[in-house]
Amino acid sequence: MTTAPIADRATTVAARATDLSKIYGQGETQVVALDRVSVDFRQAEFTAIMGPSGSGKSTLMHCVAGLDTFSSGSVRIGDTELGTLKDKQLTKLRRDKIGFIFQAFNLLPTLTAMENITLPMDIAGRKPDQQWVDSVIRMIGLSDRLKHRPAQLSGGQQQRVAVARALASRPEIIFGDEPTGNLDSRSGAEVLGFLRNSVRELGQTVVMVTHDPVAAAYADRVVFLADGRIVDEMYRPTADNVLDFMKQFDAKGRTS
Ligand SMILES: Nc1ncnc2c1ncn2[C@@H]1O[C@H](COP(=O)(O)OP(=O)(O)O)[C@@H](O)[C@H]1O
Ligand SMILES: [Mg+2]
Repeated sequence: MTTAPIADRATTVAARATDLSKIYGQGETQVVALDRVSVDFRQAEFTAIMGPSGSGKSTLMHCVAGLDTFSSGSVRIGDTELGTLKDKQLTKLRRDKIGFIFQAFNLLPTLTAMENITLPMDIAGRKPDQQWVDSVIRMIGLSDRLKHRPAQLSGGQQQRVAVARALASRPEIIFGDEPTGNLDSRSGAEVLGFLRNSVRELGQTVVMVTHDPVAAAYADRVVFLADGRIVDEMYRPTADNVLDFMKQFDAKGRTS
């Protein structure tokens, strides 16, 4: 069922995991959360990571994004091997090259939408590229809400601010863990639409963990995880195709 990659797509790798393993605990309580996972995330591609609960989706994302350590294997962001970095360098890489969107929007309540959007760059002491920030704000359609505080915004609007914040510093790659998990379907569709536009129109690279086939259908490609391993991938997914795959997969899970 795996279809060929979209023809003549640029194949620059934004992030790569090679034989990546992550083991929690020891002895009888040991859990192999990732079992020699190898995967590429290409530039200007929108990838969804799917799989049953506990299959290792968050662990994979956290390890590739430099938020968590791994037991063996390697992870590369651009040309940088994460395993070679000291804590301080890793913090800098996360700050400069990676954007994050979480399920909980994680906005600072005392700052306005605009201040939240530029906060990571303010902390890093970097001057925002105003033209870029303007185009991000235009794209997410928040121009008339920039002076509002998070409490004055709906959940969907808050998450759009969080997406703008992730995009604002023009990171090499954006990671989202269930970014629409707290949203109703309409707000979720808006946020997913923006993510997709950021890939199509701005050339962003996005990797999103989701358990929702409708959300996965916004991606260019879906990578399926089970028991800490990649079991399949699908290009140009539709919600129906993804749902069918998950069903077949659930059925297998029950009989084995
Ligand atoms: N901090 C932890 N300590 C021990 N086991 C963990 C920890 N975090 C995750 N796990 C285990 O690793 C496996 C993968 O978890 P996770 O990546 O969160 O799955 P998913 O995001 O697909 O639901 C699960 O079996 C989970 O219980
Ligand atoms: Mg998870």
